Amino acid sequence: MKNNKMNRRRFIHTSSAIGLGLTFGLPEVISAPMSTSKKPAILGGQAARTKAWPTWPIWDSKEDEDKIFQALRSGRWSRAGSMDTVVGEFEKKWAETLNVKRCLATSNGTNALIISLRRLGIGAGDEVITTPYTFVATIQAILRVGAMPVFVDVNRATFQIDADKIEEKITPNTVAILPVHILGLPADIEKVMTIAKKHDLLVLEDACQAWQAEVSHKKVGTIGNAGCFSFQNSKNLPIGEGGAIVSNDERFMDRCFSDHDNGRAVGYLGQSAEFSGVALAGTNERMTTYQAAIGLAQLKRLDEQNTHREANATYLKSLIKDIPGIVPYELSPNVTRAVFHLFPFRFLKEGFKGLTREGFIKALRAEGIPSSPGYGAQIDMSFYRDAFEYKNYQKVYPKEMLDHKNFVERNHCPENDILCNEEALWFTQNMLLGTKGDMEQIADAMKNISKYAEEISKL
Ligand SMILES: Cc1ncc(COP(=O)(O)O)c(C=O)c1O
Repeated sequence: MKNNKMNRRRFIHTSSAIGLGLTFGLPEVISAPMSTSKKPAILGGQAARTKAWPTWPIWDSKEDEDKIFQALRSGRWSRAGSMDTVVGEFEKKWAETLNVKRCLATSNGTNALIISLRRLGIGAGDEVITTPYTFVATIQAILRVGAMPVFVDVNRATFQIDADKIEEKITPNTVAILPVHILGLPADIEKVMTIAKKHDLLVLEDACQAWQAEVSHKKVGTIGNAGCFSFQNSKNLPIGEGGAIVSNDERFMDRCFSDHDNGRAVGYLGQSAEFSGVALAGTNERMTTYQAAIGLAQLKRLDEQNTHREANATYLKSLIKDIPGIVPYELSPNVTRAVFHLFPFRFLKEGFKGLTREGFIKALRAEGIPSSPGYGAQIDMSFYRDAFEYKNYQKVYPKEMLDHKNFVERNHCPENDILCNEEALWFTQNMLLGTKGDMEQIADAMKNISKYAEEISKL
């Protein structure tokens, strides 16, 4: 495992920070191809690009600030015990956007996942099938409720869980599948649902990177039993921190609400004689009204920005697909919208005459184009040891299951290792908010590096 990788959040901050101070509106689509005959910058040529990339997050000094001040002046900064605040308004709008019955806003996406898992009844002794190609929070949420993550390898073409490999990992202890719509591209959720139905498993969608992405015109996050979103600063819908749970199951959502509000009864919990006073053993993961105010302002831009990202991603893919050794993402079956939290492509060293992925990243950076190798292979990280030392693991699972070496061996995902350690490359979503000409600059720089790959590899 290589630990020296730049994490996604630091990367998006760095790739947009050079543009700080610019005001941003979606730019016109201007075509400005550059010549591909010049020497790459890393060999002493001129950099393809000196202009800053669009900054992130984007806000409007009037609209967003007004909303925050309204929340401030209301004096209701917390929604404790109430559905009827700015937070409730944000929940209503997000549920409408996704065409789902209910939404609960939470402090962040990690806790949206933890509460969902808990209120789906998942815990000690249960196995939850998921993908290793994800942000650690997905896995940590499973560990936080005392369940055992079971990894299914990825499809390197789509970067998503390989749904064809799920069934072989199902055991009598499997209770749920937790697919992640990673990078803003939907997983093969229809196949996941078919398998879940056949084996009577729950499905919790981690849509923390996929706001408004769709499969067969249905928004991801609304297809399984429940879905979770993140609104952290780097996300396409940025609040700073924030999250949401969505579902069409009213009773589940009542339990989630109660859970996140120290167990205060809402909905059926308040009407049932079974519960008195504080209904559930909950916690406090409430979203503040400031967060919701920013969310409402940001929500107005999301659709247009996602459309812009998708158009530029499709264009960039068409421009780079024939570069030897470059393989852009493929979409899962029946995807009707992808929202590109990141633009993923693969670097195949066979096409690059000795130039390594790290060398390619350096050469691109010299051109003024930041890229990242993305996630490390999560399976051999030390946090599993920490989790498995807890009493709730020690008392429930057989000793060999908690042995780290055994865990790594039984969860070996060779395709994921190749993706993480050799092939994956990302551009961040803010770059896709640039012009068509910006996409051409990226493609031309990549072609040029490819042409001079052998020379660059000798540096
Ligand atoms: C796939 C995935 N799951 C879960 C999370 C956790 O969300 P948060 O950072 O809001 O806790 C993230 C956030 O980066 C994510 O990308």
